[in-house]
Amino acid sequence: MLVLGIETSCDETAVAIIGDKGKLLSSIVSSQIEIHKRFGGVVPEIASRNHLEALPNLLDQVLAESGHTLQELEGIAVTARPGLIGALLVGVNAAKSLAWSLGIPFIGIHHLEAHLMAAAIDNSGVTFPHIGLVVSGGHTSLFRVNGIGDISLLGETRDDAAGEAFDKIAKMMNLGYPGGPEIDRRAALGDPKRHTFPQAMKKKNNLEFSFSGLKTAVRVFLKDNPPQNETDVNDICAGVQFAITEIITRKVEMALRQEGLTSVVAAGGVVANKGLRGSLEAMGKRRGVDIHIPPINMCTDNAAMVAALGQAYLERGEHSSLLLNAAPYRPLGVEGIQAAGD
Ligand code: KG4
Ligand code: ZN
Repeated sequence: MLVLGIETSCDETAVAIIGDKGKLLSSIVSSQIEIHKRFGGVVPEIASRNHLEALPNLLDQVLAESGHTLQELEGIAVTARPGLIGALLVGVNAAKSLAWSLGIPFIGIHHLEAHLMAAAIDNSGVTFPHIGLVVSGGHTSLFRVNGIGDISLLGETRDDAAGEAFDKIAKMMNLGYPGGPEIDRRAALGDPKRHTFPQAMKKKNNLEFSFSGLKTAVRVFLKDNPPQNETDVNDICAGVQFAITEIITRKVEMALRQEGLTSVVAAGGVVANKGLRGSLEAMGKRRGVDIHIPPINMCTDNAAMVAALGQAYLERGEHSSLLLNAAPYRPLGVEGIQAAGD
């Protein structure tokens, strides 16, 4: 089934086309980072307006790159929840209009389920059941994934997401926006053992996270010990990254033990972090566990993951009604709440 995917939940406008057997034919991501940078974070209304301007061109580009025409599309998948409401509405309404005018089905997708699907694009050998880890700017969550649409939430952050902690801590040190990639780059040059930062919930026998205390600890540390040179900044970055990646890896290990599973699929923007990739892979080797991590361009927001998941749902006959609305907040894997369709 030839499926178009659309992603506009935050600050990336992304469009992709997936062909038979999940083959990725074209995927384009247009980032708005440069536009939001001077505000130090995403400005929702500016994001919506830019999605609106970017979408028609991106659609033409993916069609040209895939070698298909609009009329050949057989289904449309769009991120419908969760995200910035105005931004989501641009994608959802584009998807509905296209589906209606072409007379083809469309489906609203949960952004986190799409992230979990990213590792399975182009048949990477992902098997079910597995532990799903999503670590992004808005989420830090662990799931038991039994199959597509069969997911249960095991634990999540009580406050900030890991990506938010990376970004806010980077902001305190004037390292630019988004700060995650810059902390990653500097951490590779620094000494993770020079400073020890808190790993909240480490001793708790649950699968929850908390990163707000880390933020406060770094703020206090910086006030008492302002960095004097590049080495000082790099060592703090290394210490912060170590604290975040260690606690995430430990909780993934705990989830594997609790559920009796031997496979992990990791996804979300923070999985682009080299420290986290390394520590998850090392844990996998040590425990004899399969760790599936998508290539870095599939970790951050993209529409290939939306198209791939949409194709799986549409091929088994599930689709959304044209009355579907976007939803800014919607948990995934909580009993009684559906992931797809609606
Ligand atoms: O999944 P994503 O693209 O968007 C959301 O749905 O949130 O994730 C964005 C987050 C940002 O917080 C960004 O700083 C973080 O992912 N990120 C990283 C790295 N690359 C992106 N964090 C740490 N290290 C990286 N290399
Ligand atoms: Zn995301």
